[in-house]
Amino acid sequence: MAINHPSFGTIADNRVIVFDTTLRDGEQSPGFSMNLEEKLRMAEALAELGVDVMEAGFPIASQGDFESVQSIAQRFAKGGPVVCGLSRSAPGDILRAVEAVKPAARQRIHTFISTSDLHMRVKLRMTPEAVLEAVTNSVSLARNHVADVEWSAEDGSRTDPDFLCRCVEAAIKAGATTINIPDTVGYAVPEDIARIFSMLRERVPGADGVIFSAHNHDDLGLAVANTIAALHAGARQVEATINGIGERAGNAALEEVAMALRTRQDVIPFSTGIVTQNILRTSRLLATITSFDVQPNKAIVGRNAFAHESGIHQDGVLKDKATYEIMTPESVGWTTNSLVMGKHSGRAAFRDKLSMLGYTLGDNQLNDAFRRFKDLADRKKVVYDEDIVALVDDEVVRIKDRVKLLALTVATGMGTRPTASLVLEVDGERCDAVAGGDGAVDATFNALQQVVPHKAELKLYAVQSVTGGTDAQARVTVRLEEEGKLVDGQGADTDTIVASARAYVHALNKLLAKRVRTAPPEILAPAQAG
Ligand code: KIV
Ligand code: ZN
Repeated sequence: MAINHPSFGTIADNRVIVFDTTLRDGEQSPGFSMNLEEKLRMAEALAELGVDVMEAGFPIASQGDFESVQSIAQRFAKGGPVVCGLSRSAPGDILRAVEAVKPAARQRIHTFISTSDLHMRVKLRMTPEAVLEAVTNSVSLARNHVADVEWSAEDGSRTDPDFLCRCVEAAIKAGATTINIPDTVGYAVPEDIARIFSMLRERVPGADGVIFSAHNHDDLGLAVANTIAALHAGARQVEATINGIGERAGNAALEEVAMALRTRQDVIPFSTGIVTQNILRTSRLLATITSFDVQPNKAIVGRNAFAHESGIHQDGVLKDKATYEIMTPESVGWTTNSLVMGKHSGRAAFRDKLSMLGYTLGDNQLNDAFRRFKDLADRKKVVYDEDIVALVDDEVVRIKDRVKLLALTVATGMGTRPTASLVLEVDGERCDAVAGGDGAVDATFNALQQVVPHKAELKLYAVQSVTGGTDAQARVTVRLEEEGKLVDGQGADTDTIVASARAYVHALNKLLAKRVRTAPPEILAPAQAG
């Protein structure tokens, strides 16, 4: 039966609403935090990807969270995806979320409370009757302010079925328009999920007038399978994140759900508004912003997702791609012609290339990127798309860095103690440093520490090559930990030491940004949601 929804009007029965929670469930997991500018950039990309609802954050969690939800809502004041703010069931939480999403043309409040025996007893210390009352009160309050209200039963998959039915009934009676049943701890298997959604749709009065939503965590690697099981059992909203980021093992990966639907229309005959050709660039943008690359074998967006290594496979693909490819790389944004330009390429061609790769840069950014491209083309025989992406991500996406690397020289060799001399710009001021170390990288990091003193510990140092060949760019990841906070930085260059310095500087910038973030721990701690 087609449903009439306050944000979407009449929704066809086979249309699935894509609810993206990269900026909320994804962002709250360790190491994935983003600043306001980064969130806005991601929000823009998510809108271009075609998500229907964007959960922009958890406004009560901190002033920073509130401001980012509000800024995203302002960005979509004239239209775009529904902007959603998360809240617990307390009135203060709900009103804060209402305030934050207010500027958006279409607003949603997503309120949740735990419903499993374990969570009610241990976490909430509330009786089931008190929880039921909170469901009614929270949804009613949210409905007094916005027409589009989502209610979630946290730990829903481990909730007593009869009690879950009562809660869902209360939420629908109070005016919820979407009912979300999360598998908060990633415990369910597809059969459990199918049973829960079928039961709710059969037993709960008013179930045919609301959208059921699936929100699955990936602790057993079943999040996407569970999401599809929910669709088969009548759910019509999927909650997912780009690259599957999220609490612990993450959430269902949006790109995997979208491509499963597109590729297997024969058995999953539902449609979404996702522009699949934008998937790869959205995934890369997130990886760049958070400095967490996806693993090479990650479905859809991993470096090897469409690479055919074995001779038998290569032979088959050359004869007919369908032998080993179930979807085309182009359908998710991979380009076939990855060989691009060289040192004779001009600015206009470079701009075209960037736009094809999904980047729209302002004039100054374009100039910076073009200068680095020319420099790279002088040093490297061929410049691939991957090189350009690494270069632009490295230099241009991360604007407003307080610390910038201006110059680096390292003297090293057998039998000599390596020495690094560098020039940085810190908050607009030029600073020099010289330091020795056990190796060239160690000396460079010691020099950086002289200019930007910190107590952070180096937790990870990893080098990866962007393309093949000895002239390939190295992409370095540096992970620092300071007072329990983890940050990852990335840098790319044909010189591994320079790439290492860039990565370290990027991580330092993130640490500095974290130091000034104002999130009182007493507010943050209880407001973390799965
Ligand atoms: O996993 C979960 O239960 C959540 C809710 C807040 C929806 O993220
Ligand atoms: Zn969650």
